[in-house]
Amino acid sequence: MSRKFIVGGNFKLNGSNEFLTKLVEDLNKGNLDSNVEIVVSPPFVYLDKVRQSIRKDIAVAGQNCYLKSSGAYTGEVAAEMLKDIGIEWVILGHSERREIFKETDEEIGQKVAHALKAGLKVIACIGEKLDERVNNKTNEVVERQLKAIADSVSDWTNVVIAYEPVWAIGTGKVATPQQAQEVHKHIREWLHKNVSPNVAEKTRIMYGGSVNGGNAATLSKEPDVDGFLVGGASLKPEFVTICNARA
Ligand code: G3H
Repeated sequence: MSRKFIVGGNFKLNGSNEFLTKLVEDLNKGNLDSNVEIVVSPPFVYLDKVRQSIRKDIAVAGQNCYLKSSGAYTGEVAAEMLKDIGIEWVILGHSERREIFKETDEEIGQKVAHALKAGLKVIACIGEKLDERVNNKTNEVVERQLKAIADSVSDWTNVVIAYEPVWAIGTGKVATPQQAQEVHKHIREWLHKNVSPNVAEKTRIMYGGSVNGGNAATLSKEPDVDGFLVGGASLKPEFVTICNARA
């Protein structure tokens, strides 16, 4: 079966009113492959502005959300609130959330479950650190992170996995197509064995980590690479080239 290619732009803690107005204008004028699903993820305060101004064939994602619907959780944003302002997607479990903000596998699993229940689609991120790769722990780490997500998910329709090796994020050291394919295949096999053959076949697995306009086309040819989650390059005109990598 064919899985629809999906490209996400994670703006992280970048942007301003002026910058995002121009970025949205450029994307709105861009010649984008209509066979690709595109999702952009600005910081929370710009979500509504971007959602209202961006072309309707590009969806918008939160970069995080909390595991509660409301209450005394200063600084947090609920999945229900994202949904309430018309946001369709949320990115959860990004390595920066895991590392800097100390989110645990268990908490990420709970967030995924809560976001799905609230009606959001989820890009759930996993990936090993450099020392884990060097010590041949890549499969063990992604399996542990996947299990915490799988334990919380009963319906995989609205879940996309993003494999993002931490050593490749923002470093310019992109995984080779072989390295990406090897882990994506392992993730799919894990889903086949531990969830179901149908979920394994249908669930999209994005690659993230130093994807740019120059390497996207080659990476996109790998059979288990179903899209990209793009950081730095999503803020640049080359994002259009990445979105069209398979065209
Ligand atoms: O969410 C995106 C990833 O962290 C990749 O970031 O493309 O800047 O390496 P990057």
